[in-house]
Amino acid sequence: MFKVDITRPDGFTYTIREFRLEDLERVIWINRTCLPENYPAYFFIEHHRSFPKAFLVAEVGGEVMGYIMCRVELGFSFFKKATLVRKGHVISLAVRPEVRRRGIATHLMMYAMKHMKEYYGAKEYYLEVRVSNTPAISLYKKLGFQIINVIKGYYHDGEDAYLMAKPAEE
Ligand code: ACO
Ligand code: ZN
Repeated sequence: MFKVDITRPDGFTYTIREFRLEDLERVIWINRTCLPENYPAYFFIEHHRSFPKAFLVAEVGGEVMGYIMCRVELGFSFFKKATLVRKGHVISLAVRPEVRRRGIATHLMMYAMKHMKEYYGAKEYYLEVRVSNTPAISLYKKLGFQIINVIKGYYHDGEDAYLMAKPAEE
């Protein structure tokens, strides 16, 4: 079971670990309070069953305060023409407002990407993000993602998405 403790220079400490079924209610609550894209319980359970190493939570003081849920898919590469590759798809990421700007999302992303590569053979990573979501877009750019294209009307309220992607490091 993957688990790592992180302490910042200012003393703030958190744990990144694999999601467990006991976390389900809390993760659903974080999803509903942080994002307009919400899913039924089985959607979370299915991702946990299929890609347990790529569904992580962040705990602060013993409470889950953030999560990342991913899956790995076979599809055409965003970087190599006409090449089928395994792509790590970041489905949902959220950190509670009380503990933002402390690197939690960065660490959730870094470990989820590492695991998608090491356990599930991902050669690249991708995600969709609202074009208005400046904090998330900045985070992904900082992690080396680039905007591949705009998906018109991707969200239920009509907003466009950026499709962002990044090759996995060798
Ligand atoms: N404004 C500008 N840049 C920001 C902001 C912000 N509010 N938040 C993060 N960033 C950028 C900064 O460059 C930051 O580095 P810095 O703090 O050294 O300047 C960098 O991202 C890393 O930030 P973290 O501390 O790692 O990110 P955090 O733990 O605060 O979580 C997140 C970021 C997940 C976007 C959080 O704000 C959140 O949960 N938002 C609501 C839900 C959401 O938008 N999720 C992503 C949707 S897309 C998807 O799920 C695929
Ligand atoms: Zn997606």
